[in-house]
Amino acid sequence: MKKSFFTLLLAALASTQLQAQVIEFREAKFRAGDNMEWKASNADDSQWRNIDVTRNWDNQGVPGNTTYAWYRVHFKLPKSMLEQSDIRENVLFDLAKIDDTDEAYLNGHLIGKTGKMPSDGEYRSAWSQPRKYYVKANSSWLNWDGDNVLSIRVYNGGEPGGIFGDKLKISVPSRIDGLMMRHTEAQQGMYRMEMSSDFTSAISGKLVAEVIDFDTDEVISKTEKKVSVKKGKPVNLNLPYDETRCVRIRTTFTDAASKKSISGSYSPKYILTPKAPEAPRFNTTGVFGARPKSPIIYRIPVSGVRPMKFTIKNLPNGLKLDEEKGVLSGSLSRGGDYHLNIVAENAKGKAEMDFTLRIGDNKMAQTPPMGWNSWNCWGLSITQDRVISSAQALIDKGLADYGYSYINIDDGWEAPERNADGTIAVNEKFPSMKNLGDWLHGEGLKFGIYSSPGDLTCGGYLGSIDHEKQDAESYNSWGIDYLKYDWCGYGKKHNTERDNQTVASFVRPYLLMEKYLREQPRDIFYSLCQYGMADVWKWGHAVDANSWRTTGDIADTWESMYDIGFKRNESTYPYAQPGHWNDPDMLIVGKVGWSDNLRDSRLTPDEQYTHISLWSIMASNMLIGCDIAQMDDFTVALLCNHEVNAINQDILGKQGKRAVEDGDIQIWTRELSDGTRAIGIFNVGTEDATVNLAKYSNVLNINNLKTVRDLWRQKDLSTTNLSYKIAKHGVRLLKVK
Ligand code: GLA
Repeated sequence: MKKSFFTLLLAALASTQLQAQVIEFREAKFRAGDNMEWKASNADDSQWRNIDVTRNWDNQGVPGNTTYAWYRVHFKLPKSMLEQSDIRENVLFDLAKIDDTDEAYLNGHLIGKTGKMPSDGEYRSAWSQPRKYYVKANSSWLNWDGDNVLSIRVYNGGEPGGIFGDKLKISVPSRIDGLMMRHTEAQQGMYRMEMSSDFTSAISGKLVAEVIDFDTDEVISKTEKKVSVKKGKPVNLNLPYDETRCVRIRTTFTDAASKKSISGSYSPKYILTPKAPEAPRFNTTGVFGARPKSPIIYRIPVSGVRPMKFTIKNLPNGLKLDEEKGVLSGSLSRGGDYHLNIVAENAKGKAEMDFTLRIGDNKMAQTPPMGWNSWNCWGLSITQDRVISSAQALIDKGLADYGYSYINIDDGWEAPERNADGTIAVNEKFPSMKNLGDWLHGEGLKFGIYSSPGDLTCGGYLGSIDHEKQDAESYNSWGIDYLKYDWCGYGKKHNTERDNQTVASFVRPYLLMEKYLREQPRDIFYSLCQYGMADVWKWGHAVDANSWRTTGDIADTWESMYDIGFKRNESTYPYAQPGHWNDPDMLIVGKVGWSDNLRDSRLTPDEQYTHISLWSIMASNMLIGCDIAQMDDFTVALLCNHEVNAINQDILGKQGKRAVEDGDIQIWTRELSDGTRAIGIFNVGTEDATVNLAKYSNVLNINNLKTVRDLWRQKDLSTTNLSYKIAKHGVRLLKVK
């Protein structure tokens, strides 16, 4: 139907009204460098270049090493904007997001600041925080109906840099615009919404909360409440929900006076993994590799109620079995495959498995390492007690029954000075590495540590430069099983090297440590951390690395996980193989924080399912980055799904890759050792979507499916109806034959 002149006119009117309410900028004046005079409204920016503010300055002709830079926009502020607001309290400057920190000035006056820049004496990135700065509507800093200049000083601590995420927006908010809904889970199975206001004038109206089934859209429950909110006087709403069901909670508030409403939607945590049976069940793909004569420490991953009794009839000479804990120890001097028949028995039943011990020079890390690392939770505030507490919880909460076994201390354990003989010393937080190692080994767990080929680690602790041999020997004497070797301080030395443009110059420090590490009489998993420089995946195996980080550090945001998982790590797939793995960094589920202050991962539950599914398809290291002692049932279930973990641990060792990219839908596949395939259907968009796999049946070669298994739900699905509803940023992980 043709639109009538009248509807067109109305639309135009409506849009001019909107334009009058919000002043928006997609571009700003831009200049790299730093000069505080640029905050003044009369600073001369006529020669400055223009820049797109909706995306980072990278790839916009700004040199990669830019740290400080300024953005400026000039605007008129029509007084008519005030009249459209029912409170006329503030002017809002919404600066989207900024990599990494900023100070915003209006006509020369500081109106907001986020993060810390070196000129503050300390740097703290705040790249993921939204910037909303308010100025009182009656402030003398505002020039109503006249010219105004907004100047933004930005400091970039590392790529990417600058303002990004959306246009810059200036508006006079109405009362309802001051409302914020903060959705949380007060405790497991209990949803809580806190509605607060930025504004002092109260707003009253009706709050409705609906619990909706994700798959069927059925409204399971509906709650209504009359509320009144103002600054400093928030209201709360608490709703219990069934955490084994995937639901959305939709909240809507309607302002009684203006009839305007705002709404929010929240996905609470939901558990897909079925509870493990009480009878013993083996949760391993059944292969463990070691070098001849190297001490073997292996805790057999079996779930089921304890006490449990383990027996191995054909235990080779040289090996010992702790029958209660299920820990294998000892060593084997002859190479080859040893086939063990392991039996686990408890009051509820008995299970049996054929297990292969693969002994040979290059047989370590047959599957990607699973375990824990201290960095994403405790950062530099790691202590021995915190290591022990996570290790103990790894056992108590059953994660060890699923193969998680490495307990790795990251940065922050070294003393400021070496011992007189040049050996590395521990700081006061780690009384005895040897005792810690012995205790971990006694539990069947493995022990990891961190250092740098440079003078200093990233956290400013002592690195191994000029002491590589001594350090490797110390590690051996403490019983270290894993070394993360982090470039960091080595950059200084590298910069001065004449050949620093060559791959050889990147290989050198890792080759050196390889030599000393491999001289030790124990297997030490060699984990390179240099953020993917010089395409490390192409030469990592040549320094006998067992894994190499392919990217910079991960953060607990969708943007970070998406960038690392879906973009950067994808192309590395040809280089993964048993013994040598691509490492897209540690897991960001559970309580993380990189400091003393831990908080829930900022990934939504769907994003966490995506994270673990993708890391499994990509055969990535599975190092948990949270405090295990505080781990909730949702996170345990997320990490302990034996069918999902079996994809990560598949012994063929072929890293999966993207097979389809169709708008926001990505389909990844991984070939498995039993001839089947894992298929991950990811929705990376911001709306829920329904995907019918049949559309891609030729590309995926799934015309004649015998079985379709939903791995998270551990359920067989129809082989003909291949249509799935997938949440925004969510996944469906299948195994097909
Ligand atoms: C680097 C690494 C991190 C962590 C820190 C420790 O940033 O990439 O994983 O080890 O150093 O300082």
